[in-house]
Amino acid sequence: MLAATGLSARYGHIHALHGVDIRIGEGELVAVLGPNGAGKSTLLRAIMGLSANSGEVRFRGDVLPRSDAVAVASRGIVLVPEGRGLFAPMSVSDNLELGAYRLRDKAEFARRRDRVLTLFPRLKERLGQAAGSMSGGEQQMLALGRALMAGPKLLLLDEPSLGLAPRVTGEILETLGLLNREGLAIVLVEQKAPLALELAARVYLLSLGRIVAELDPRDITSHDDLARHYFA
Ligand SMILES: Nc1ncnc2c1ncn2[C@@H]1O[C@H](COP(=O)(O)OP(=O)(O)OP(=O)(O)O)[C@@H](O)[C@H]1O
Ligand SMILES: [Mg+2]
Repeated sequence: MLAATGLSARYGHIHALHGVDIRIGEGELVAVLGPNGAGKSTLLRAIMGLSANSGEVRFRGDVLPRSDAVAVASRGIVLVPEGRGLFAPMSVSDNLELGAYRLRDKAEFARRRDRVLTLFPRLKERLGQAAGSMSGGEQQMLALGRALMAGPKLLLLDEPSLGLAPRVTGEILETLGLLNREGLAIVLVEQKAPLALELAARVYLLSLGRIVAELDPRDITSHDDLARHYFA
């Protein structure tokens, strides 16, 4: 579905990615793990065309533009960024609506909204509440809900569990598993390896801007396995 080859990215003179190759199959859930500063967020941003980058990204056979995130998003690739990127003073309802700002089909809009509110009943109870006044977990649900309103084909998630209690994290991951089983392709960036390993079909380990290993989660039986690859 997506293949990035030789993806490099920089911030001024800081090289954050050095020739990364990754691929995501149709309907696949792929995890990208790595320590702080490994370049995980930069990788997702580079796929979107949001950071100064070079290399090639192909999506369903077409080369994606490297510096036009709107064009990338219009192909159905949707990023839920670190920090969630919600419009804090705006209501839950308005944030959801913004996710589908390009959609003209009212029936499809209603269908997507119903689906999101079914997946996340807590959002339904808080439609009029300002996004910024919601709890961390609710905000992550809203960020995911807004992304789903865009009708994604490939969802890029940057540390959805960050700062959340285990129970809420569990709920969110369960929902991701459900969406994936329905056919949605997902790239899940996480620092909490066990969470990602439960869901992922394949795992990339990123360290200092390079892919250092590609693993089958079933082959990873202990933290030592992971650590060996991290520090290899
Ligand atoms: N806006 C920026 N300006 C300068 N350097 C940046 C910027 N954003 C990221 N970097 C640098 O690029 C490298 C990769 O950062 P990135 O945010 O992609 O890492 P990460 O794996 O997502 O880390 P974390 O787990 O902490 O979110 C780091 O060395 C970071 O300092
Ligand atoms: Mg990050």
